[in-house]
Amino acid sequence: MKRNILITGGAGFIGSHVVRLFVQKYPDYHIYNLDSLTYAGNLENLDDIKDYNNYEFLKTDITDANALDQAFQKYKFDKVIHLAAESHVDRSITDPLAFARTNIMGTLNLLEAAKKLWDDDFEDKLFYHISTDEVYGTLGDNGLFKETTPYDPNSPYSASKASSDHFVRAYGETYGLPIVISNCSNNYGPNHFPEKLIPLFISNIINNKSLPVYGDGNYTRDWLFVEDHAAAIDLVFHKGGTDETYNIGGFNEWKNIDLVKLLCRLMDEKLGRALGSSEKLITYVKDRPGHDLRYAIDASKINKELGWKPTVTFEQGLSKTIDWYLTNEEWLKNVTSGDYQEYYKKQYK
Ligand code: NAD
Ligand code: DAU
Repeated sequence: MKRNILITGGAGFIGSHVVRLFVQKYPDYHIYNLDSLTYAGNLENLDDIKDYNNYEFLKTDITDANALDQAFQKYKFDKVIHLAAESHVDRSITDPLAFARTNIMGTLNLLEAAKKLWDDDFEDKLFYHISTDEVYGTLGDNGLFKETTPYDPNSPYSASKASSDHFVRAYGETYGLPIVISNCSNNYGPNHFPEKLIPLFISNIINNKSLPVYGDGNYTRDWLFVEDHAAAIDLVFHKGGTDETYNIGGFNEWKNIDLVKLLCRLMDEKLGRALGSSEKLITYVKDRPGHDLRYAIDASKINKELGWKPTVTFEQGLSKTIDWYLTNEEWLKNVTSGDYQEYYKKQYK
């Protein structure tokens, strides 16, 4: 029997990689990609699979409870992988309410629609919520986030994701909805919207624009290639335990400034520019308010229980990512026109 799988946020960065993986790997699944196409959603990301007959796009906003209900009743989704979200920390600082609407209320609307459709018959049903390591707050110089680390979010973005995680867990406990959650570290790779550190800096180096490093640049993130995250999501979806949480990370910590210097070196090589020319674009700018010092994931649970580990080294992943941006300049041009220019002026004025 064909299974109906709903993936929300499939037109975004991570979602598009998850949709592609599932559409190509599981011809017996009918994949519905539900997305409202905000500035971060882009159907060009899925051009290569849009004509597969097990794929369908639904333009729907998860803040619209009625529209969601109708979609659940019409398409009878068996399982949900929920990625749709407002995802950029800086935007959450200027517009926290948008994050509450989509990340909290949108998630609640999905939980309600699933509960109503499944109506206590939870056999072979699943609500899989994709979350972030930012819910755990910040680390000092030592230690790692474990699944048992208490939630301590610091930005409106992470507070909204933490809240949605709590609601998902509460639906599991209270109504018996079969749920699973994974919390991942920083992703990078093709199709990443150029507001986040890596794609923004690649885009700025291409265009010889300054590279705005927040504060002293001594903030640490744990980077994972997006296809490795999609592979982890595939495993958790198929083999993860109900009511479980899995931390996913790259075992790959970098201080921002060291990462930016590595990126500059790789870009100089790829662009045939004199070594050191991209580094000259580095500019230290005003820090992000409430900037979390360090994120780092202990991914030993998913490694031991499900056998997952990253397969792409950072140098390989960065090289693939840069190559993708260099061969997809049209994509970059399309997403950096219009509203993006306004956002950029306001954020980096
Ligand atoms: P993204 O911003 O690239 O994509 C988000 C997608 O959600 C877009 O396609 C957008 O159109 C859609 N969307 C936004 N609001 C919507 C709404 N109201 N209704 C329907 N669709 C809506 O985000 P991403 O970086 O791909 O992140 C995907 C998920 O993974 C998010 O839940 C995020 O919190 C989580 N996550 C991201 C990272 C990361 O490093 N990017 C790491 C861990 C977890
Ligand atoms: O940890 C997972 C999270 O990673 C995800 O949940 C978020 O959706 C995702 O956006 C990301 O959050 P970060 O805030 O860590 O990512 P960002 O790329 O915005 O920033 C990475 C680091 O680089 C952070 O320390 C801030 C810094 N930075 C970022 C930008 C955009 C700069 O120094 N300059 C910049 O212009």
